Amino acid sequence: MHVLVTGGAGYIGSHTVLQLLQDGHEVTILDNFSNSSPEAVRRVNALSSSKAKLLKVDLLDEELLKETLTTVKPDAVIHFAGLKSVGESVSQPLKYYRNNVTGTLNLLDAMDSAQCHTLVFSSSATVYGESTALPLLERTPRSATNPYGRTKLHIEEMLEELGASDARWSIANLRYFNPVGAHESGAIGEDPQGIPNNLMPYVAQVAIGRRDKVGVFGGDYSTPDGTGVRDYIHVEDLAAGHLAALEYLKDSSGVHVWNLGTGTGASVLEVIEAFRRVSGQPVPYEIVERRPGDVAESYANPEKARLELGWKAERGLEQMVEDMWRWQEQNPRGFESGDLLELSDDELAEHLKPYLVTRKEDGPRGDID
Ligand code: NAD
Ligand code: UFG
Repeated sequence: MHVLVTGGAGYIGSHTVLQLLQDGHEVTILDNFSNSSPEAVRRVNALSSSKAKLLKVDLLDEELLKETLTTVKPDAVIHFAGLKSVGESVSQPLKYYRNNVTGTLNLLDAMDSAQCHTLVFSSSATVYGESTALPLLERTPRSATNPYGRTKLHIEEMLEELGASDARWSIANLRYFNPVGAHESGAIGEDPQGIPNNLMPYVAQVAIGRRDKVGVFGGDYSTPDGTGVRDYIHVEDLAAGHLAALEYLKDSSGVHVWNLGTGTGASVLEVIEAFRRVSGQPVPYEIVERRPGDVAESYANPEKARLELGWKAERGLEQMVEDMWRWQEQNPRGFESGDLLELSDDELAEHLKPYLVTRKEDGPRGDID
């Protein structure tokens, strides 16, 4: 099928695009590069025998968006595009409501004009607010603790109302837990701008020597070692969840919701220790004040996705950290650094040949010579 991927140049989007290509889908990416670089798409295309098309479009440009959708005529949309910094959303709430909520409204209108009614939406475990009813189930009551989380909550509700009003819509709300890791090639990964807000990229930057030490936000939670526990999920497993959801939506209208997590938590100190082990580098840390709004523990019950989608996360913490470290070492300052940036398209394809993915119909992966 022809899949339009908003935010496909971003972290989770780029990994998902690669899997879509591998699965034999035609892919058109739509991104405004507000938090990404076209270099990510160049690398995805170098990693794949079939190529994604890339269009620079802002979801807030209503006219261009409608024109694009009616020209592309996708069969389905995966909607990653959004702003995601919790702290920034507190200081600039309207920017978040405009970009995330209005951007999604514009997208839904444009999809309707293009007669496309199949949507996979990037929701988040943030919609569980400060819930302590662990493990978190899809039916756990929702709430928001900051404007970013509230945009996800509003969009989920909006999609539920839309699905209830018009049976042509097939919609998946995927609630991601904590996405980490990178593609095994080290060619694509998360490239946070400025000081990372999230733990894993911060720890990776300490291990590579870009930052002095990790500030551990609280050492007195009621968790086994006193530090916060989260359900980290490898971005490749997460990407696979999108393909499974698309498959499900083919034969099922209405609005569906699935947790995408592993079901297992790791503490901040366990993450630091895994990085120290994998990188062989010291990872100094200091216990500091709790971060306002953080919960002690968050992890999914992922059973619904397993039963209904036949999906489950396969990769553990060690592999998440290994892949993240490879990406960090090869691209110490993200997409704008490292040797791969200097390579021409042909040289890049040659360099990444061991990882080349071929469309399913074209033969098994790696069968390239
Ligand atoms: P990301 O910032 O790497 O990717 C988002 C992409 O959307 C970027 O390429 C950005 O340029 C693009 N974009 C943003 N606003 C746009 C607009 N108005 N028009 C066109 N493109 C626009 O983020 P990510 O980590 O890949 O996250 C993808 C989605 O998943 C987001 O919606 C995010 O809220 C959600 N999510 C992420 C996490 C996480 O921890 N990474 C957790 C839960 C949910
Ligand atoms: N942490 C530190 N030091 C840091 C950063 C984080 O100790 O420098 C701790 C936090 O206190 C927490 C854990 O590491 O215990 C994970 O924190 P992250 O910021 O990496 O992730 P969160 O679970 O707080 O939030 C992330 C996204 C949210 C999203 C949520 C669930 O930022 O937007 O995952 O998907 F909603």
